[in-house]
Amino acid sequence: MKLNIAVLAGDGIGPEIVAQALRVTETVAKKFGHELQTKEALVGAAAIDATGNPYPDETHELCMQSDAVLFGAIGHPRFDNDPSAKVRPEQGLLAMRKKLGLYANIRPLIIFPSLLEKSPLKTDRVEGADFVTIRELTGGLYFGQPQGRSENGDTAYDTCIYTRMEVERILKLAFEFAMKRKKRLTVVDKANVLATSRLWRQISKEMEPQYPEVVVDYMFVDNAAMQIIQWPKRFDVMVTENLFGDILTDEASVIAGSLGMLPSASIGIHTSVFEPIHGSYPQAAGKNIANPCATILSAAMMFEYAYKLDKEAALIRKAVEASLEAGAVTEDLTDDKSKALSTSAVGDWIVEYILKA
Ligand code: IPM
Ligand code: MN
Repeated sequence: MKLNIAVLAGDGIGPEIVAQALRVTETVAKKFGHELQTKEALVGAAAIDATGNPYPDETHELCMQSDAVLFGAIGHPRFDNDPSAKVRPEQGLLAMRKKLGLYANIRPLIIFPSLLEKSPLKTDRVEGADFVTIRELTGGLYFGQPQGRSENGDTAYDTCIYTRMEVERILKLAFEFAMKRKKRLTVVDKANVLATSRLWRQISKEMEPQYPEVVVDYMFVDNAAMQIIQWPKRFDVMVTENLFGDILTDEASVIAGSLGMLPSASIGIHTSVFEPIHGSYPQAAGKNIANPCATILSAAMMFEYAYKLDKEAALIRKAVEASLEAGAVTEDLTDDKSKALSTSAVGDWIVEYILKA
């Protein structure tokens, strides 16, 4: 098969972790006889420096022409500490999501047995936890207008908006996910306070009869934040709006032992994007210490979702799992830093494993 992939490394540790995910992708492609073509493009702070635009038109064109986008991270402290900056790297990510129509972000919680000890939770709470969060990605507070400041600058506002169309399409996807899994769906909202949440709840209840086998429960987001920590095993598929999903998935990720382990797939109308759920970790940029596994596992999701190449995806996951079992891990996963491998050494280990498999 021909694999035509756009590579958007972005900021911070993005280039380092994407480099390893690309090596893994190349190795797997070669092993299974696929013809891989990759093209790189700018996004984020790097794109602002080069073009003034965090998601340049050429980058968008490349994404549109590719079958999948492998994405690193976005964000730069230079902008975080400057609230007056008019153009921000994150706008590049949001523009990409919007222009590619990526309304669903699939974030699976994957528990690796060899990382159970790294979880801040007791093993019996975590062992066997297996849920996926479906985060709405192109609506809500992230995009609602108006957004801004009053003339004197002393009042600021964001607007949370959801239309029936937006809610229906993400819930449909979530119900379908649940049908393929344990048929349990949790709709997370704040319907006791927010009008948008009440719309979500109403539409979900209207849709329930179409999926009689799916057991649906409704949970307020504050309660969900608590239940994720207390009883992560109770969830199967969780669906929620953009901001709640952003927050809850960072929370969920540490249950697995490290924020550096969890991949995601953003899917929707045009080309899908595969990216780790963590950010650009600027303190580690250029040091070759960041954990590349979330991005490598995002490449696995790319084989699965963009190409339906399940064996290739499974081999990548197996290789990552084997590296963890062998203790070939970066410093976020070792107590003894002297035993930690570098980003590229973890990449080497995983590539070697795939070659030998
Ligand atoms: C994520 C990130 C982004 C988000 C930031 C970088 C804008 O935190 O993908 O979860 O909030 O969506
Ligand atoms: Mn986030």
